[in-house]
Amino acid sequence: MKACLCKSLGPASDLVVEDIPEPVAAPGEVVVRVRACALNFFDTLIIQGKYQFRPELPFSPSAEFAGVVETAGEGVTAFRPGDRVMGYMRWGAAREKVAVRAQDLVPLPEEVAFETAAGLMVTYGTTLHAYRDRAGLRAGETVAVLGASGGVGQAAVEIAAIMGATVIACASSQEKLAFAESLGAHQTLDYSRQNLKETLKELTGGRGVDVVYDPVGGELSEQALRATAWEGRFLVVGFASGDIPKIPLNLLLLKGCDMRGVFWGEALTRDPDGQRKNMAQLLDWVREGRLKPHVHAVYPLEQVAEALEEIAARRVRGKVIVTP
Ligand SMILES: NC(=O)c1ccc[n+]([C@@H]2O[C@H](COP(=O)([O-])OP(=O)(O)OC[C@H]3O[C@@H](n4cnc5c(N)ncnc54)[C@H](OP(=O)(O)O)[C@@H]3O)[C@@H](O)[C@H]2O)c1
Repeated sequence: MKACLCKSLGPASDLVVEDIPEPVAAPGEVVVRVRACALNFFDTLIIQGKYQFRPELPFSPSAEFAGVVETAGEGVTAFRPGDRVMGYMRWGAAREKVAVRAQDLVPLPEEVAFETAAGLMVTYGTTLHAYRDRAGLRAGETVAVLGASGGVGQAAVEIAAIMGATVIACASSQEKLAFAESLGAHQTLDYSRQNLKETLKELTGGRGVDVVYDPVGGELSEQALRATAWEGRFLVVGFASGDIPKIPLNLLLLKGCDMRGVFWGEALTRDPDGQRKNMAQLLDWVREGRLKPHVHAVYPLEQVAEALEEIAARRVRGKVIVTP
């Protein structure tokens, strides 16, 4: 079978596609024929050895996938050959078949396309976990989403709107903001031209925002924190800017507010049932037509490098899908 392989740490152009032996399902595992998998920002880091996980070489990028069960190993009762499934595996999905633990799979309803499901786990799973489990987001609250057109940012705009919040999309260009508006953002802010703190205050009549969703980091974080309302919640989601900010703690005291870390991969391990419920909720929203994850582009396995370069160049709007 074909696999996209990272054989030495380095740029995306070093990735190769090679034939490798087919996987075999060990006890408790399932072999899935991957119909679609998705690439995220962290895939651009993991192939360079710059991410928190450092897989042994060679490995395939892509952490989320959807497909069809081919074989089920000893002891697996929840899945049978032919079942449609989706799953998360940290890395390794950019190949024709994967062997995964049955407990890491979620049944995929007939109505949800593979290309939609493949991109639903990481960014949407992270975001629902962030809003529901970490921020306790309530309908009627105001959410500022930084990097609102990126992978998690897009999900953050859509899910906040579905949960009944007022969404202020913040991004670095008018084009990106127009995209966020098309996803349901109520107000927009271009932080390449407008001061983030002052504009968020203006847009909320001086009150500040209840929740900040920050996957960008850098100098934007402190500005956004300074624009949170009393008892606001600041969600630390990621540092796409490459800069991990240091925050003056007096800001938290003055606002009676919280900064809350979001680490979905760890939450999956510590609270699998809670994350399974979140995934069921996401699939329900997709089936009801309330959540329509936007696919930026679909690439063949041979073009994973181009796809990752697109992500690294900040040109992506929505999910980047690969169909092995
Ligand atoms: N905590 C978790 O559990 C979790 C889960 C998934 C992802 N993450 C993290 O969230 C972050 C964003 O991931 P993503 O998949 O949404 O990435 P993405 O699709 O590349 O979006 C990141 C956004 O950040 C902004 N940005 C600012 N400076 C940037 C730079 N130097 N390079 C790239 N983007 C830059 C861009 O928006 P503008 O141009 O509009 O500023 C871009 O749209 C990453 O750090 C990722 O590791 C965390």
